Amino acid sequence: MRLETLLALLPVLGAHGIRIIQSNDDGWAEQYVRSFHNALIASGHDVVLSAPAENKSGSSSLDTEPGPRNTACQYNSCPANSGPIGRNATSPRLNWVNSYPVTSMRYGIDTIGPQFWNGEAPELAVAGPNVGSNLFLAVPFSGTVGAATYAAKNAKIPSIAFSGASDGTLAWNSSPEAQRSKVYAELAATLTNAVIKSGKPYLPEDVFLNVNFPKVEGQCTQASQFKWVLSRINVGLFSSPDTQQCGETRLPTETSVVDTDGCYISISVGDANDKTTAPAEKQAVVLKKLQSLLTCLP
Ligand SMILES: *[C@@H]1O[C@H](CO)[C@@H](O)[C@H](O)[C@H]1NC(C)=O
Ligand SMILES: *[C@@H]1O[C@H](CO)[C@@H](O)[C@H](O)[C@H]1NC(C)=O
Repeated sequence: MRLETLLALLPVLGAHGIRIIQSNDDGWAEQYVRSFHNALIASGHDVVLSAPAENKSGSSSLDTEPGPRNTACQYNSCPANSGPIGRNATSPRLNWVNSYPVTSMRYGIDTIGPQFWNGEAPELAVAGPNVGSNLFLAVPFSGTVGAATYAAKNAKIPSIAFSGASDGTLAWNSSPEAQRSKVYAELAATLTNAVIKSGKPYLPEDVFLNVNFPKVEGQCTQASQFKWVLSRINVGLFSSPDTQQCGETRLPTETSVVDTDGCYISISVGDANDKTTAPAEKQAVVLKKLQSLLTCLP
């Protein structure tokens, strides 16, 4: 083995590195997903990206076998007339699938990831950061959430969906790397590492986390300025009580969290079966795991 190859493997051999499968719905060559990929590598994880060949935003839980790619991938990131799946020849952990986010996640978990992990499955699945928020009524339509819920529900791999309110398309190689892409990547890696540090099982069964970052602007331009708040996806008018947090048994909605001035990030504990808020007992497990990270709204 060449020295460079050996050195490149070193972070992966660290005590806290785990096998992570990554997807999104904006496409494999979107900058947000690449910045996050690099942040996970920098944290010592063994991460494989398996994401759509082009923007498949809004595809919810659609899943069809990938077909041959007739035109170039987004931003000319793969040549025309490539096969149904393909990879970056020099960075083979970066893979595209010519289909939907769920299909990409499924291929990543079943086929692509295990090629790098001696046939083993991923220990955690992450989706995004999505370009644009996925809050409340948008959640059922989101391909990012679709990919995360597929992992949690169908593959039984704990999963996290990330979305960022700052939008606008950015190619993977547009330079310099956008501040919003760097900040979202750092924040997403922080939460991912906190979940991993909390120990196995990383999340309760059939649970995914729906995480929404507010815009990177004004007072919120550095990762250190952001704060984390436990939230719920839908309005809890007639729902049974939530887990107790910040002196209440009704969590704030994720929309109200990201709309509050002061760089607040919402973390909702989602039910992967129906993409709504998970019951109080499952919220409580997540609350215990993430307690030291969480704060209350003013
Ligand atoms: C493929 O990976 C190389 C680095 O190994 C990078 O320079 C190039 O931009 C990547 N291309 C795509 C489409 O990912
Ligand atoms: C993907 O397409 C949707 C519309 O279908 C658009 O809202 C979104 O901004 C696009 N994403 C990117 C990264 O261009």
